[in-house]
Amino acid sequence: MSQFVYQPHQQNGILLNANENPWDLPDFIRQEIKEALDTIAFNRYPEDSAQELCEAYSQIIQIPASQILAGNGSDQHLGLLIGTFLGKGKNLLTLSPDFGMYDYYASSYEAGILKYTIDPFSHLDVDDFIGFARENKPDLILFSNPNNPTGNLLNLDEIQKILAAVPCPVVVDEAYIEFAQGSAVVLLDRYDNLYVTRTLSKAYGLAGVRIGFLISNQANMDALRPLHVPYSVNSISAKVATIVLHHADWFQEQIETIKAERDRFKTLSLQRCRIQSSQANFMLIQTPEIEALKKTFKDNGLTIREYEGKDYCRITIGTPEENQIVKDVLEAFDKEEV
Ligand SMILES: Cc1ncc(COP(=O)(O)O)c(C=O)c1O
Repeated sequence: MSQFVYQPHQQNGILLNANENPWDLPDFIRQEIKEALDTIAFNRYPEDSAQELCEAYSQIIQIPASQILAGNGSDQHLGLLIGTFLGKGKNLLTLSPDFGMYDYYASSYEAGILKYTIDPFSHLDVDDFIGFARENKPDLILFSNPNNPTGNLLNLDEIQKILAAVPCPVVVDEAYIEFAQGSAVVLLDRYDNLYVTRTLSKAYGLAGVRIGFLISNQANMDALRPLHVPYSVNSISAKVATIVLHHADWFQEQIETIKAERDRFKTLSLQRCRIQSSQANFMLIQTPEIEALKKTFKDNGLTIREYEGKDYCRITIGTPEENQIVKDVLEAFDKEEV
């Protein structure tokens, strides 16, 4: 039985808690989707390999479609990888903090979980991490890059160092890589132990559509494909996602806006709170008065991601209007008498 209980996130208030894209799809894409719905045979099972969708993603990441597996959110692929490489008596090595679903899947497969603790406000010491991995001999290493919740990014040299140092599979979860630079997919030809997961839930604004991708070299993908649940990408999601990917340039502009909005927070000069510089579409805010800050956000209708027992919270970059509210709240909090 799983030890880890998944907590559904809140869906009321100004939603800055799940790192979603703050804008829904524009009218011209919605119109294209409506017209495409007429072409779907609802009575038929979907085309199992979601070929058209994988081809569209292949154009974007410049990796052959045969090395891409589409799934019901990248969560499904994380579960597939954990289920494939782990089980009773095997160990996952991940970071603390990192994305909570790793614990959920590892514990549901009864695997052990080793955590390498990182300081959210400093860069991961890769040599020390490798030392920890060598000492503990995990069966799988999995971490998000950029890291959720810190927004810190390991560069490609650091990722290569890890891949070369360990014999086990290494999964780099790139749910937020569009907001940073340096995807590990360029390393797939060189490292047989590399697996990369990506999603359309964040930069491409399709959290409700549930599409993610798993990418590795051809031999690894040939081995994994038969283990993937058949028909897990439905015809509607595949069609919507394909249309969205055909408009990747439009989303690229939106990504640039979100990055510029994120970087505008750097100009805030605060005494009571520390904002971590981030390579993702969210940022970590730390303060010794975290309970008071969480209450202030709540009182102002802002829904953010809280971490029990920690002196920080995570806040998603929203629309410019939402971000202005966040800034005003932070500045007012900073000026309050303690
Ligand atoms: C690091 C990380 N990986 C994966 C996911 C899950 O993405 P998906 O919506 O594709 O299942 C999330 C969602 O918040 C995430 O933060």
